[in-house]
Amino acid sequence: MKQPTEIRPATGKLGVLLPGFGAVATTFVAGVEAARRGLASPVGSLTQMATIRLGKRPDKRAPLIKDFVPLAGLDDLVFGAWDPIPDDGYQSALKAGVLHKEQHLDPIEEFLASIKPMPAAFDTAYVKKLDGPNKKKASNKRELAEAIREDIRRFKKEQGCDRLVMVWCGSTEIYVRASAVHESLEAFVAGMEADDPGIAPSQLYAYAAIMEGVPYANGAPNLSADFAALESLAVANGVPIGGKDFKTGQTLMKTILAPGFKTRMLGLSGWFSTNILGNRDGEVLDDPESFKTKEVSKLGVLEHILQPEMYPQLYGDMYHKVRINYYPPRGDNKEGWDNIDIFGWMGYPMQIKVDFLCRDSILAAPIVLDLALFMDLASRAGLKGIQEWLSFYFKSPQTAPGLYPEHDIFIQHFKLKNTLRWMMGEEQITHLGVEYYE
Ligand SMILES: NC(=O)c1ccc[n+]([C@@H]2O[C@H](COP(=O)([O-])OP(=O)(O)OC[C@H]3O[C@@H](n4cnc5c(N)ncnc54)[C@H](O)[C@@H]3O)[C@@H](O)[C@H]2O)c1
Repeated sequence: MKQPTEIRPATGKLGVLLPGFGAVATTFVAGVEAARRGLASPVGSLTQMATIRLGKRPDKRAPLIKDFVPLAGLDDLVFGAWDPIPDDGYQSALKAGVLHKEQHLDPIEEFLASIKPMPAAFDTAYVKKLDGPNKKKASNKRELAEAIREDIRRFKKEQGCDRLVMVWCGSTEIYVRASAVHESLEAFVAGMEADDPGIAPSQLYAYAAIMEGVPYANGAPNLSADFAALESLAVANGVPIGGKDFKTGQTLMKTILAPGFKTRMLGLSGWFSTNILGNRDGEVLDDPESFKTKEVSKLGVLEHILQPEMYPQLYGDMYHKVRINYYPPRGDNKEGWDNIDIFGWMGYPMQIKVDFLCRDSILAAPIVLDLALFMDLASRAGLKGIQEWLSFYFKSPQTAPGLYPEHDIFIQHFKLKNTLRWMMGEEQITHLGVEYYE
């Protein structure tokens, strides 16, 4: 990848396109609007709150990331969405039940209600527990993809946007493996025309975005843009892409804790994770085929962090299980329990219990914001294809073929900040620090 020599400035409006206008998407949009009006803080967002150290420690140069790299400002963001359920942003946010009605939704009701989802490319064959009337009609999948492309162009024109980004906030689809139809662009286009069952709606949005030069980030574990045909199309069209599956809740905890055990060479014999949640996402994941997609995304994490093949004595025999149960009374306020069996000196066993009473969409919303702003930055910096430096935000990061993903959140964080330094022609920070002792 070539080091950017110039980054185009973030002038004008940035349109953020959201396939899926449910809990995560509306919490994100409402939070941005609340921050713009000074009603709430964008907690959890690196682009809004984090600083970045530059140069040597005694230099004391640590600007905010948003003052260091040219990012779009919150005031420049406009939002568009698609959803088979026709609820506007206010109704959808109310149903999602994440944010307080009186405190956070009512003051921005007019703004939220002004965002009405466009008809979706939706098919119940891929998300079995949901349906809605706000759907596109077309004679095949290629026509659907072309209709999404038209939506993108129309939105850009009507809203007077300078640039767009797309962040998938739609449901988790049934498990789809990459097959022959995903190997080349020709096969993929032919597959859309022939309504190939391997092509799920999320792939149509990804294809449409990349064709329109719009960066695409995938917040669900769906295959979406994670296959050869769209990866090469993204490179050919100079479009940044990234995925998969926002790293929130239990997996966030796993990627914080597991690197800690490994750095101290503590063994792990078992990790049992169970979740109860009662939002729409939980209902969709109650379908075994959608759960399978999520399970694959969640399970890879420990293997990659702990590297049992390199440390068979410590991690060669670990039992890892993830369960998700739909439990309506909990709504979006999920409970994730982890029972972790570790062992130490001379093999003596110990246990750790984590009971995370988290709010899924509260953890996901800042990720949507950061991905939108960083993807736009990447595009203006001339970066294209998979943006591995944004692995920090994903449970199951996309990587170049043949490369294993980096899951350790601290390495991911390090990589993200060094990439920003690299983009801006600043020195990389290695933390070696021997010069301070000369
Ligand atoms: N909340 C989190 O912490 C978190 C973390 C990681 C991943 N995710 C993923 O993010 C996604 C959104 O989560 P959520 O809690 O907002 O779920 P949600 O069910 O509240 O919202 C998803 C919305 O997507 C819509 N949708 C489904 N298929 C669509 C299509 N083809 N086109 C347009 N819209 C479509 C649904 O109608 C629904 O309104 C899910 O896939 C979830 O697994 C969420």
